[in-house]
Amino acid sequence: MSGTRYAGAEEYMPDETRRSLGTLRAALPACQGCDLYQDATQAVFGDGPARARVMLVGEQPGDREDREGAPFVGPAGRLLDRALAAAEIDRRDVYLTNAVKHFRFRRETPGGKRLHQAPTLSQMVACRPWLEAEVAAVDPHVVVALGATAARALMGRDFRLTAHRGEPLSSPDDGRMVVATVHPSAVLRAPDRAAALAGLVDDLRAVHAVIG
Ligand code: URA
Ligand code: SF4
Repeated sequence: MSGTRYAGAEEYMPDETRRSLGTLRAALPACQGCDLYQDATQAVFGDGPARARVMLVGEQPGDREDREGAPFVGPAGRLLDRALAAAEIDRRDVYLTNAVKHFRFRRETPGGKRLHQAPTLSQMVACRPWLEAEVAAVDPHVVVALGATAARALMGRDFRLTAHRGEPLSSPDDGRMVVATVHPSAVLRAPDRAAALAGLVDDLRAVHAVIG
């Protein structure tokens, strides 16, 4: 349950002095920092250029990402690609990752379809060292939180996405610029999808403006 405390990812990570994307990626599959490794297919590390100026952070891998082992390769990823293109952000400037590295789901019926479940706060806290190390290794100009889970992982648990979306914020950890926006899956579920997409694109344009 959400009150559970986990040992966390730290003990599975490479030594602090040697945390490159390569060593982090190599170490991630062995992580048992919380219970999510038990039912997922694999941990999903980030993807993109090591020197990307923009780092986009989602919530956790979805069903497709869990099976394929890469972030944003399913329907949410396709929507995100469209939004990035509309905001004129070059995919070569973008590193994609997630706040939590294993897929959390429940079964509709025993053996049935896997339905996404948001990670608990304890699972987010357990997994945070991977995200922090990725941010430090890529050292992007701006980190974009996609949705409330990523926004809370980056800005603190009391962060209100609806009050601050699209604003340039400062990370409480390292002062780096953070912009929070909606999750592409929320756009896919929105009653007015065109309006929701336009809102995501607007926020990504603000990101485009800061990287030039
Ligand atoms: N949703 C996410 O938050 N991340 C992914 O990688 C895919 C879907
Ligand atoms: Fe480790 Fe994160 Fe997976 Fe939990 S979700 S087992 S902390 S990689």
